[in-house]
Amino acid sequence: MNLRIDHLGIAVPNLAAALEAYAALGFKADKAHDVPSEKLKAAFLPIGESSLELLEPTDATSSVARFLQKRSGVHHVCVLVDDLGKTLALLRSLGVRLIDETPRVGAGGSRVAFIHPRAACGVLFELKQAPSE
Ligand code: CO
Repeated sequence: MNLRIDHLGIAVPNLAAALEAYAALGFKADKAHDVPSEKLKAAFLPIGESSLELLEPTDATSSVARFLQKRSGVHHVCVLVDDLGKTLALLRSLGVRLIDETPRVGAGGSRVAFIHPRAACGVLFELKQAPSE
């Protein structure tokens, strides 16, 4: 199985202010995009083969908004997989607790699914399969 870290999701209360702070660190952001399924807007900041993903909730019921009530900072680790369906089936067979039993649509038409943080010592993992060309 081919795996790599695709991005780290970072929860921020204000995307524009965060983009300014990260620009001061030398990061160049891709165009910001809306993720309606997650009730947030986001921007990717490429770093080598991976990216940082800054996440601002657009609705108080967003899971990122609930996260920000407790703390800001790293929200999730996203791992790129070749075949999300097969990966989810494998994790289910291992008894791993999942948030998403089936893939949903993520940023840029990718397919994503989240593993429950209880399965990974409190870390929220996103699994992502890139859209086919
Ligand atoms: Co993400």
